[in-house]
Formats: sequence, structure tokens, C-alpha cells
Amino acid sequence: MSSTNPTPNASPERSLQDLYTWGVPHVNGGLGRITEGLMTKGDGTYVEYADGKRMMDFTCGIGVTNLGHAHPRVSGAAAEQCMKLVHSQCSIALHEPYLRLIEALLPIMPHSSLDSFFFWNSGSEAVEMAIKMARLFTKKQNIICMGGGYHGRTYGAMAVTKSKTIYSEGTGPLMPGVFSIPYPYWHQCGLPQSTPTSEISSFCLERLSLLLSQQTSPSDTAAIIIEPVLGEGGYVPAPTEFLQGLRNVCDEHNILLIIDEVQSGMGRTGDYWAVKESGVKPDILLTAKGLGNGFPISGIITRKELSDRLKKGSMGGTYAGNAVSCAAATEVLKVFQDDRVLDNVKAREKELFGALNALKQDAEVGKFIWDVRGKGLMVGLEFLSGNGAPKSMAKRVAEKCIEKGMLILTTSVFEVIRFIPPCNVSKADLEKGCRIFEEAVREVVKEG
Ligand SMILES: Cc1ncc(COP(=O)(O)O)c(C=O)c1O
Repeated sequence: MSSTNPTPNASPERSLQDLYTWGVPHVNGGLGRITEGLMTKGDGTYVEYADGKRMMDFTCGIGVTNLGHAHPRVSGAAAEQCMKLVHSQCSIALHEPYLRLIEALLPIMPHSSLDSFFFWNSGSEAVEMAIKMARLFTKKQNIICMGGGYHGRTYGAMAVTKSKTIYSEGTGPLMPGVFSIPYPYWHQCGLPQSTPTSEISSFCLERLSLLLSQQTSPSDTAAIIIEPVLGEGGYVPAPTEFLQGLRNVCDEHNILLIIDEVQSGMGRTGDYWAVKESGVKPDILLTAKGLGNGFPISGIITRKELSDRLKKGSMGGTYAGNAVSCAAATEVLKVFQDDRVLDNVKAREKELFGALNALKQDAEVGKFIWDVRGKGLMVGLEFLSGNGAPKSMAKRVAEKCIEKGMLILTTSVFEVIRFIPPCNVSKADLEKGCRIFEEAVREVVKEG
């Protein structure tokens, strides 16, 4: 028999443009995108596309590349780890980067009781594990979440996501035993924008009290899950008195408090954790996104006293705590410290709020800006809806920014633009971004 090797595909490699035209129809149609074209390169605050277009990135890949794209130290640490050990599987053996990451994270926990770590790949997986642990720890089932909250696209995470119906529409039944109260955000509560935050907090805590007496008894309720700064629901920080109120309710009824810092954590708000300022102790803290600066990793952090009760083998996952991602995340934390990145967040926060509030005072366009809010470099600007404001204002402003060379995102079912520049963005780039945004707003207002 003659040996016949299959003939290698003789056709030349497709050009990037041909690859794009050919490949896009093969990409799952459920994906949405705000730009066309292939992104080929990222450095710091900028990204480039195959056609040579260079864009400033105020999305950070939705709050991920907090140190900018392809940070040399982070990518370098990952590359070095790639040549040593890529994968060991946490049920086979631990590796050095896993423990180095714990070593780096432990001193910055928002509360000293958080001393037991599990690393997974995505925010959604972290949420799944938090729900699972809460049920195991309390031997109760129900979960209370927030209207407007977003926790991911897997089944448990989807069930506690209440920011937009698109994430779960047509996919039910979802995980049962989920109840919600409104997030303490005036628009989510249907209250006037001028309502003092203390009143909004009381309103929502009252709803919680009713929920616990009418729909889910404390003896059936395992956990309350909340983002300390609402992300996909509109970029709204939770008032301290609300978080403290939740803590009190949890303490009274043996309910666990899950703080989801997947988007708000890792320096984004000017501290490593948005919850820290409130002094509230999470029972379970979730992190992801900025932790790996683009390398997939999430963290589920709780008290050793609780996690020691778990049966061996009840937690795990093929890629959980991947060595390369752990090495990258450890370097992220080093860069934050060496480059004093939190100081930069605080300095740029002042400038960003200054620019957006000045626009809010502007005689021509200010009347269409309802609210400027947020923490650190997690800032939302809400346009007026209805009442003579241009239609779909947030979407149109975001599209204009993109035309002008800046990637920026909307958020929530309301007219909100979110600003998530890198935590180490320069003063000059922040000013440039604010200028582009202002031009876009003026043009949309002119067009009506
Ligand atoms: C607060 C919050 N939790 C969970 C998730 C889900 O994370 P992932 O997309 O990594 O699954 C997100 C994602 O945007 C998020 O913002």
C-alpha cells in the first residue's frame, strides 16, 4: 500500500479583511458588538483595528484592562509563567502562582475575616459558586438579589440578574428560590431624582423587611447578593447606610451577604474594594475582571471557618486558578502598588467629575443631563429620558464618540453612559476623552 499523506490545504492564508468577511457569518449570532472590524493590538489606553484605525478605549473591555491593554509587566509575568507551567489542575496539585496570588490578595481584603480563596475563570462562575456555598453553609435555599443587578449569564447567575430581560428571555425556568428588592437608585425605585439617599435606602430596606415577612422567610433565605456599585444597572454606588442595613438584617437572621465586586473591585473605585468605605463585612466577596487585566480569572473569597466545612471535591473546575492567570493577577497587584495606581484613580476621578459636572451646568446641553454619579473611575452619566430630550440619547452619544475615535459604553435600561477608562489613564487622555464626549453630546443635542 502506498503511503498517501493527505494533501495539505494549498490555498494561501486569507488576508485579515478576507478572514473577517468570511469568518463573521460563522460567529454565533447571539453575540452583539459595538464596532465592526478586527481588533489587532492594544497598548495602554489605546487599541488598533486591522484597517489601521486607532481608538482610545474608555471601556477597558468592560472593566477588565484596568492597567491598560497588554501591560508589559502583566503580559511579561504571564509569558514567563507560560514557559514554566501552564496548567496543573487544582485537584491534581497546587502551583506557586496560586499561593502567590493569595499572598498578594490577603493583605488588601476589605475585612480581615476573609481568608479563604478559590480561583475560577469568570465572574459568572464566581457567582455560581457563591450561591452554592451559601446554600451549603446555611442549609437554606433562597437568594435575595437587587432589581437592576447583573451577575452573569450562566443559570444561577442569570436567575439573580435583574438588569435587562435580554439576558434570560426565553430560557426559563431559571433557578428557583430567587427574590428581589429594588437597588437603592432613585430611577430603579421609581422615586424622584431629588430624593435624599437616606430616604432611598430606607425605602429599599423597608421593601426587604416586607419581602422577608411576605415572600421568603428568613429561615428559608440563604443569602443576599449585591454589587456595591451597580454596574449593568446604571453605575450607581449603594449608600453606606443601605449596605449597613443589609449587614444588620443578615446578622439578625443568619443570612450571608455576598458582595459582588466583579466590576467594582480591584481598584476601579479608588480603593481595592468599593465595599471597604462602608465598613461592611462581606461573608463572601467576589472578584474577576480587573483581577487578571485580561487573563481569565475570578476569585471567591470567604472565611476559612466556613469553607473548611465543605466536603473535599465539592469545589473545583478544570481551569480553576490557572497558573498563567494567577501569575498575571499577582503582577497586577504589584503594579497597582509600585505605580500607586489608586492615587491616579483618585486624581483622575476629580477631573472626570469636574468635567462632567461642568457639562451638567452648561446652558445649552446641561438640561439634558440628569445625573452624574459613581466612584473613582466607575462613573455614570444619565441623560434625561423623555421631557423633550433627544431620543435614545445615550446610545447616540456613544455612537458619536466611537465615530470620533473613542470606545465608550452605555449601561442599563435607562439613558446612561458609563466611563471606565483604565485606572492608570493619563491626565491628558482623560481630558481628551472628556472633550470627545462633550462634542458628541453637543452634536446630538443639536440634531435633536
Ligand atoms: C457585577 C458583575 N458580576 C458578574 C459578572 C459576570 O462576569 P463574567 O462576564 O466574567 O461571567 C459581571 C460581568 O459584567 C458583573 O459586572
